[in-house]
Amino acid sequence: MSDLTDRQPLLSPQPSPRSDVEIYRMWEIYKAVNARVKAGGEVVSLLVGEPTLPPPARAAEAAIRALSDGRTIGYTEALGMTRLREGIAQLYRQRHELDIPARRIAVTTGTSSGFMLAFMAAFEAGQTVAVAEPSYPAYRGALKAVNLVPHRLGTDASTGYRVTPAMIDALPAQVAGLVIASPANPTGTMLDAADLHGIVAACRRRGLWLIVDELYHGVGYGRPAATALAAGDDVIVINGFSKYWGMTGWRIGWLALPDRLVQRVEALTGSLQISAPTLSQIAAIAALDCDDEMRARVAAYARNRDALLAALPRFGIDNFAPPDGAFYLYADVGGFTDDSVAFCRRMLDETGVVAAPGVDFDTAQGHRFIRLSFCMDAAVIDEAIRRLEPWFRAQNRR
Ligand SMILES: Cc1ncc(COP(=O)(O)O)c(C=O)c1O
Repeated sequence: MSDLTDRQPLLSPQPSPRSDVEIYRMWEIYKAVNARVKAGGEVVSLLVGEPTLPPPARAAEAAIRALSDGRTIGYTEALGMTRLREGIAQLYRQRHELDIPARRIAVTTGTSSGFMLAFMAAFEAGQTVAVAEPSYPAYRGALKAVNLVPHRLGTDASTGYRVTPAMIDALPAQVAGLVIASPANPTGTMLDAADLHGIVAACRRRGLWLIVDELYHGVGYGRPAATALAAGDDVIVINGFSKYWGMTGWRIGWLALPDRLVQRVEALTGSLQISAPTLSQIAAIAALDCDDEMRARVAAYARNRDALLAALPRFGIDNFAPPDGAFYLYADVGGFTDDSVAFCRRMLDETGVVAAPGVDFDTAQGHRFIRLSFCMDAAVIDEAIRRLEPWFRAQNRR
C-alpha cells in the first residue's frame, strides 16, 4: 500500500487572485519612519489621519462604567444597539433636519467593514464600480477582495476634485455603481447640496448604486457639510466615529441604507461579524453627546490648516485646493518630482518630516502629489513648517 503522506500534491494550492490587493506605498514610508526612530532619529509626522487626543471624555467614562458595573459585554443585534441606531437617527435630525428612521441605520465595525458590507449587498461578483480618484485607497482593495472591478474616475483641480454629472454620464456602460466621499480624503473637497443632487440624479439616470463616504462630516471649515441622504432614500451613506470623534481604534461606523438593503446587510453581518464591538457601541452612544469637546478639536484643526495654507506658497507650492473639510492638504509637488514615494523618503531622511505619497490615492496622477495630514498638535505642524520651508527652497525645480 502506498503511503499517501509521502506523495507530493500534483498542484500546490495558490492564493486567490482577488486577495492580490495593492499594499499601500505609505507602508514603505512607515517602515522608514520606524527605522529612523529605532536609530534614535526624530520624526515630525504628518503621515497618518489619526487624531492623537484621547477619546471624548464621556465616551471613555461610559466604557469604564460598563466594565466596572460587571456587565456582560456580549454580542448585540447584528444591526447594532437600538440606542445607538436611534442616536444616529437623531444626529441626522440635529445636523440636517432629516428624518432617517433608525431601522435604516446599520452599525458596523468601522466604516471599513461598512463599505465591504455595502459592496456585497449592492453588487454581484464581477461587476465594475467607479471610484472617484484621488480617494481613500482601501475602496479599491475592498472592491477587489469581493471580486468587483474598480474603475478609476479621475478628478483634478479644474473641478476642485469634484465628480460632476457629466463625468457620470460618460462612464462606460458596464459600470454598476459609484463611490465618492465628502469631505474627501486626501483633498478635503466637500460637495454641497446642489452638487449631491446633481450626482444622485445622474446615478439614477444610469441605474447606478451611489455610495457616499461621509466619515469626515463634522470636520469642516466654513459651511456645514451636506449629506447625500437629503437627495434621496436610494443612496448608501457611510459614516463613523473615527474622525470627528477621533475614535479610530474603537472601530465603530454606520451605514444609512435604502430599505431594500437593510435585511441583506443584517444577514451579511450575522454571517461575517455577528455584531460590531459592544463596548465601543456603548462608548459611541455617549460620544454622540460630546459636541462641545469635538468642536474645540475642529477649531484646533482649523488653526493648523491656516498655518499650512499660509506656508505652502512660501515652500513654492501653488497648486492645492484649500480643504473645505477633513484634515488633509493635497499638494502638487510636480514642480520638484515625478516620484512622490522617493520624494517623501528623501524629505524624511533630510528633514525628519514625513508625509504620505499621492500614489496611494490616485493611481494615475499621484506620483506628483503628497498629502499632509494636520490633525496633530499645533506644535507638530509648526515644527514641520519650520523644517520644510528652507528645505523646499533648496530643492531644484524640474
Ligand atoms: C475617507 C475614509 N473612509 C474610511 C476610512 C476608514 O475608517 P474607519 O474604518 O476607521 O471608519 C478612512 C480612514 O482613514 C478614510 O479616510
